[in-house]
Amino acid sequence: MTKTPAPRYPAELACDIFTREGIELHLRPIRPDDAGPLVEFHRSLSPRSVYRRFFFVHPTLSPTEVDRFTGVDYVHRLALVVEHDDLLIAVGRYEGIPGSTDAEVAFVVTDQQQHHGIATVLLEHLAQAARQRGITTFVASTLAENREMLDIFAHSGFAVTTSVEEGIVSVRFPIGSAADV
Ligand SMILES: CC(C)(COP(=O)(O)OP(=O)(O)OC[C@H]1O[C@@H](n2cnc3c(N)ncnc32)[C@H](O)[C@@H]1OP(=O)(O)O)[C@@H](O)C(=O)NCCC(=O)NCCS
Repeated sequence: MTKTPAPRYPAELACDIFTREGIELHLRPIRPDDAGPLVEFHRSLSPRSVYRRFFFVHPTLSPTEVDRFTGVDYVHRLALVVEHDDLLIAVGRYEGIPGSTDAEVAFVVTDQQQHHGIATVLLEHLAQAARQRGITTFVASTLAENREMLDIFAHSGFAVTTSVEEGIVSVRFPIGSAADV
């Protein structure tokens, strides 16, 4: 049986980033060996943060979720992690929607490090990587009460459109094309 080759790790996406206060953090694409740190990161989140991310109470990631979240192909599915002193403190990901050039984005930042501009920076880097990989539009589903996430999209500089149904805001915005990179 032929084995599918492992996807190329896009090390060029790794870089140092800064919080609003100027604290240096490291951003890089996720790797399969982030499984353990990702489980710990998720376990450390407040129930409120988990609910805002998943829309249900979900204290522990299942092994299937861990495999899926860490095993990305770096093209149609990409996750970027942020580390501080080698500790995973944030994840931003996109999941391409089959048959389209749209991708769904989601973010989660450890409770202690929220409101320092990390998700804002993650969105910029995720959009840049997605454009280079042929994604043209980001979509997201956000709880209507999630002011932080909605503000990030609203202030991103992208032309954001929204619609609301049963307390969930569907967000959509073009991120430009590879020609703009
Ligand atoms: C939503 C979430 C990812 C935001 O992460 P974060 O790193 O705290 O976000 P940021 O610090 O970049 O931005 C949030 C803040 O910036 C504001 N903001 C961002 N860009 C802005 C801009 N250009 N101008 C003004 N305000 C801006 C937001 O309103 C918010 O306000 P505050 O921190 O000043 O009170 C984080 O709260 C989280 O992990 N929540 C739980 C999971 C979740 O809700 N995920 C979203 C589902 S997709």
